Amino acid sequence: MFVLINLKTYPCDPMAVAEAARDVDETTDARIAVAPQATHLEAVADTGVETWAQHVDPIDYGSNTGHTLAETVAAAGATGTLINHSERRLKLADIDGAVRAAERASLETVVCANNPDQIAAAAALGPDAVAVEPPALIGTGTPVSQADPDVVEDAVEAAAHVDDAVTVLCGAGISTGDDVIAAHDLGSSGVLLASGVAKADDPAAALADLVDPL
Ligand code: G3P
Repeated sequence: MFVLINLKTYPCDPMAVAEAARDVDETTDARIAVAPQATHLEAVADTGVETWAQHVDPIDYGSNTGHTLAETVAAAGATGTLINHSERRLKLADIDGAVRAAERASLETVVCANNPDQIAAAAALGPDAVAVEPPALIGTGTPVSQADPDVVEDAVEAAAHVDDAVTVLCGAGISTGDDVIAAHDLGSSGVLLASGVAKADDPAAALADLVDPL
């Protein structure tokens, strides 16, 4: 299972989470990565943890003030990027452009979407993976695998129907090892989560609990 921890703009210590994720990663078969804010990418990557960007823009080198260039993200040490997160929505053409920009910079891609129909559309753009996250459950602590298991199973089916090389993650409300197992049992290849780790008093313990049953 892939456990991708999105730190969003939570007021957590990205280095503490990164070091905890690196250490826990060494104890488990699960794959753990951390997606900090863009300005923290280099420091987080320097800890040795697998590091992802939260976003890249559909642009190339040039006159693009205030944008995030995939090549810069890769040069900072990121090896993958989220695209079209629920809190950073893009138009369809821009999702396509961001996937192409990430590919150009050799970044792995996870395109987020709200529901199975959007997952099918996202899978058609050829990312490495898609992540289904019902927005209403994000940050609630109520896991999508429990509150809406059908959305995960339907997303897995929708992506496979379009392109079975695209793997499927799920997210929203996931915070325990049981949630990760439930996601796995619904066909998900990984989980995308944030508050369960970023807002935990002890991120290392939260991470250890997440991968413990795997
Ligand atoms: O990117 C992960 C996310 O949107 C889910 O957030 O806090 O429900 O784990 P959370």
